[in-house]
Amino acid sequence: EKGGYDYFMLKEIAEQPKAVADTLLGRIDAAGSLTLDEVRIPASVLREVDKVVIVACGTAYHAGLIAKYAIEHWTRIPCETELASEFRYRDPILDPRTLVVAISQSGETMDTLMALRHAREQGAKVLAICNTNGSTIPRESDAVLYTHAGPEVAVASTKAFLTQLVACYLVALYLGQVRGTKWGDEILSVIRDLSEIAGEVEEVLETMEPVRELARSLADKNTVLFLGRHVGYPVALEGALKLKELAYMHAEGFAAGELKHGPIALIERDVPVVVVVPSPRGRSVLHDKIVSNIQEIRARGARTIVIAERGDEAVRPYADHLIEIPATPVLLQPLVATVPLQVFACELATARGNEVDQPRNLAKSVTVE
Ligand code: BG6
Repeated sequence: EKGGYDYFMLKEIAEQPKAVADTLLGRIDAAGSLTLDEVRIPASVLREVDKVVIVACGTAYHAGLIAKYAIEHWTRIPCETELASEFRYRDPILDPRTLVVAISQSGETMDTLMALRHAREQGAKVLAICNTNGSTIPRESDAVLYTHAGPEVAVASTKAFLTQLVACYLVALYLGQVRGTKWGDEILSVIRDLSEIAGEVEEVLETMEPVRELARSLADKNTVLFLGRHVGYPVALEGALKLKELAYMHAEGFAAGELKHGPIALIERDVPVVVVVPSPRGRSVLHDKIVSNIQEIRARGARTIVIAERGDEAVRPYADHLIEIPATPVLLQPLVATVPLQVFACELATARGNEVDQPRNLAKSVTVE
């Protein structure tokens, strides 16, 4: 059942190109328009939406954090992403013009379920993004967009995360399309770019041997820090979460811009710091800022592990280890940038003798609040 792999997690990491392609399949027509058959919320209602709230837990929450950037950019609708376990206890402002998006691989996470029930009681419409057909969360939602990752067995989520991102981008692009924002041309071109992502994930997977080697060399470290900016910030959080879950190491993700407001005090000789670098194209101001962050931490002795777009020569001199990823549109970068972090955490866990598929104290789906 593990298809020749030692762990389900390795199999599921390898299945990501297919999972991404399957989640896109049949959802974009020949004219480049999105057709989301499972979205049963009429376009007329979606046109009236004035706020999007995303609720989720764990890795799905990180997908939601990335979705916020895409939704606000392509739709110009204010969007917030909230931990499902916090959501209803803060008495959120919800009404029939609020679209709540609940993201869950299992469809059974109690915190997420309680959040969506609360949202529906307040009259909000709920769209579920879910990987499990007929599970409770989609059954209790107004609409569902299924991710087609196939069954995910390893407790630490990998392929489900990538497909959640794809689904979030589809929702963002669809909302943008339905509402006819000024980004029409960009939306069409991103749809084309999305169809190339599966091949790019494959390319990343083919170049992971140095990442595995690096992971093994860090097996005796206590701490690994992760920095990112813009959509790279949730990627940093996800990289840190994977390391906590699997390697039981102290791992923290920070927004790179916050470095000087506190985390830089943690930088000492030889601490590994993974930095997710935005594309030098597009939002290039952010790129330059992160390059100076890398210089700052390196000057303080950090061991810099840099994930950057292929051909990004500006970061090379400051990278103790450079992990190159294919160029993608700015907002889509998490689809390729996350993959090395999954491989990194999996290999570190193996090197530390941990049980990769069943980390201690964790469950695949948590059906208590
Ligand atoms: C956790 C799992 O407890 O639930 C995580 O260990 C997962 O891996 C989280 O991200 C959310 O699960 P789901 O099924 O709602 O996506």
